[in-house]
Amino acid sequence: METLFLSANAPGTAETAAQIIQNGGLVAIPTETVYGLGANGLNEAAVANIFIAKGRPQDNPLILHIADASDIQNLCHSIPESAWRLAEKFWPGPLTMVLPAKDIVPKRTTGGLSTVAVRCPDNAITRQIIRLAGVPLAAPSANISGKPSTTTAEHVLHDHNGRIQAIVDDGACRVGVESTIVDLTEERPRLLRPGGITPEQLLEVLGDLVVDKAVTAQVNHDAVVKAPGMKYKHYAPDCQIIIVSGSRDAASGYIHAHFEEGDRVLCFEEELQLYADCAPLAYGREEKVETLSAGLFAALRQLDESGIRRVYARCPVGGGVAYAVQNRLNKAAGFHIVDAEAEN
Ligand code: TXA
Ligand code: MG
Repeated sequence: METLFLSANAPGTAETAAQIIQNGGLVAIPTETVYGLGANGLNEAAVANIFIAKGRPQDNPLILHIADASDIQNLCHSIPESAWRLAEKFWPGPLTMVLPAKDIVPKRTTGGLSTVAVRCPDNAITRQIIRLAGVPLAAPSANISGKPSTTTAEHVLHDHNGRIQAIVDDGACRVGVESTIVDLTEERPRLLRPGGITPEQLLEVLGDLVVDKAVTAQVNHDAVVKAPGMKYKHYAPDCQIIIVSGSRDAASGYIHAHFEEGDRVLCFEEELQLYADCAPLAYGREEKVETLSAGLFAALRQLDESGIRRVYARCPVGGGVAYAVQNRLNKAAGFHIVDAEAEN
């Protein structure tokens, strides 16, 4: 099949994309987090095609994207008051809520769960497409399963050219890491995945937040986890990634002592000079953490080249959006972290 490459600014793009969705096809859509691979989330056959295109395990549920907060009433029941407060504060925006699913939501979409993840993305053309199609869009990140997420339309073209009906190009994604996921179906709200809405921001609205263990540690493949996606290998290029933590000096000492030909260094812009002899690639500025989240996946995709053996990566510390960057890098590295302070 020929994949249409549609510009968000071109006339008729939203109408064409909505038509394809209504017909059960797949359209890659821009969001403020990452590009998604969208289909009619209420159409089992259309949803099944997402899993095929991505090579995604069947038990890994999808997020339903809606155009307006009030749409959650069509998809979810027993909605707690806290969900409305979060929606009021953070939607449209990079926050996904897990809520009890109504029967209208197919089991294909929820991966067989009784809950469903919903979010209202902060992207004008995508919300227009959802409104025109008149259905919620099921959309996982548009990468091939296990690979770094797609933050430009070109990334999507690379992974899916000829395999999906259309891609809507709206430039590079602002946030660059996937949405924050919070589960509101238990007694206490639970953070399942950190993202652009920070734990601190959630706490302010919710007053309470449990961080799921899958956020901070490697999950056994057979484990039962709240967000099934968290147990799979993620975001990873083919090469081995080693995170080197510690001060700038300690990390440099460790990396220079261990660097071999064929290795690369993934670092902050502030460190490019320091690693000039280690084939460095910068993914953003340490002092401006949003540039790190925005640049991370593009950098990981660039490193996904044959010939690279090992990548020594520098990771920001602290809370806020840095917490989401740490989570993605930890997963890409399979939690292989070296403390340079202890090693030197
Ligand atoms: O920013 C985002 O959320 C992007 C854009 C496209 O909106 N989408 C995205 O989808 O990251 P995906 O499929 O790559 O990640 C969805 C995550 C998976 O880890 C999945 O297991 C979890 O959400 N999830 C989906 N439904 C769930 C549910 N009912 N309960 C718990 N976790 C759920
Ligand atoms: Mg994903």
